[in-house]
Amino acid sequence: MSKTATLVINGEKYDFPVVEGTENEIAIDIKTLRTSTGGVTTLDPGYKNTGSCESAITFLNGEKGILRYRGYAIEELAEKADFLEVAYLLIFGELPDAEELAKFHSDIKEHSHVDEDVKKILDGFPKSAHPMGVLSSLTSALIAFNPSSVNVDSPEEMYLAIVRMMGKFPVLTAWAHRKRAGLPLDYGDNTLGYVDNFLKMMFKKPDGEYNSNPILVEALDKLLILHADHEQNCSTSTVRIVGSSHAGLFASLSAGISALWGPLHGGANQAVIEMLEAIKEDGGDTKKYMAKAKDKSDPFRLMGFGHRVYKNFDPRARIIKASADDVLQDLGIDDPVLDIAKGLEREALEDSYFVNRKLYPNVDFYSGIIYRAMGIPVEMFTAMFALGRLPGWIAQWREMRLRKEPIGRPRQIYIGETHRPFKDIEYR
Ligand code: CMC
Repeated sequence: MSKTATLVINGEKYDFPVVEGTENEIAIDIKTLRTSTGGVTTLDPGYKNTGSCESAITFLNGEKGILRYRGYAIEELAEKADFLEVAYLLIFGELPDAEELAKFHSDIKEHSHVDEDVKKILDGFPKSAHPMGVLSSLTSALIAFNPSSVNVDSPEEMYLAIVRMMGKFPVLTAWAHRKRAGLPLDYGDNTLGYVDNFLKMMFKKPDGEYNSNPILVEALDKLLILHADHEQNCSTSTVRIVGSSHAGLFASLSAGISALWGPLHGGANQAVIEMLEAIKEDGGDTKKYMAKAKDKSDPFRLMGFGHRVYKNFDPRARIIKASADDVLQDLGIDDPVLDIAKGLEREALEDSYFVNRKLYPNVDFYSGIIYRAMGIPVEMFTAMFALGRLPGWIAQWREMRLRKEPIGRPRQIYIGETHRPFKDIEYR
């Protein structure tokens, strides 16, 4: 028998269906709330209790620390798959076979060319511009050089838009870095793998020198997989809601990049390393910063700690922590900032403030340490997150359009002045 939830408002009873997901999550379907109650709405700032959609892409259970893409555990994907396989899985729903994967990669390579005129736009930015601003602008600018809308019901058109974006985005990301670093723009080498080629586009010197390092390629591949999707987070919800107005894919992605930029979201990886550096400069006294984080009159927060959904541990953080150890060891780097990070984590795990609020290290706590070991500058960290999140955004955008979701348009509870007569200027 189907389940219902009963709501009583001023003695009147209203029944609503209860929907159940494949992982037995239940939700009260309030689609008819306003019409059946004569205008009653819900209030849920930050959407902490609101499901904005039904989705078949990513499952996460914050209490148990589970993250799965299309049913596959993140731990297994990080160990056994590469980033392009995971991108294909997220977007199209199944792992590709060898032929599908080879075609996907070759189509991405074929469409990686960015119109030369985009370079003129990049030229207009000051060198000091933050790469996330540059990336968001250039992604938006791509609309001018590509079809501005895509027929989502045409698998061919959709596929083309996907491989175009997957091909051009790493180029734009690398260009954002090269502009800042004062290096000539580069297209890399399409005979290389997706991640290897990206690293080449980032680091190739003007004299042509680039030495591929398999340790770095594997570590970055893993980081991108871990960042590839995370269901309805701030940037993904942004991509879906912008796309729900039938704005194009590139425009929606550009908005997602802006949402990711904030320090409470993707910008946290930059904020973490800056915080760890500041603690090091200040003598490495982690206890002092723990006290600041707990002091409610101090705006300081322990960056890289806490998560809206994970209230046990972030499974991605575990994988990244192990990877940070491996990468630093393989590269022979002794980074004192890693010791500070481990010290903070140890203390937080034993501190009642953090334990009671279920605050654990999140994906960004250790990722910056790996990026830094790779030679990626701090300002580029969030752009790296964007590169990883790209397939997730695309998958979510496509799903939203294929499910023919209505335009996103939340309601509000108005708390301003009630009706009052206009005051002429001399009486104000
Ligand atoms: N340091 C100190 N106290 C914290 C922290 C922190 N990092 N995070 C949360 N708290 C406290 C917060 O002050 C509140 O305390 P109280 O109940 O006494 O008022 C309680 O814990 C609950 O916090 P909240 O802000 O209500 O939780 P939220 O779900 O709204 O916020 C968060 C989640 C990730 C924005 C927050 O934990 C935070 O600001 N963390 C630091 C930034 C960060 O690392 N962000 C990256 C998130 S993972 C990458 C991604 O997916 O984008």
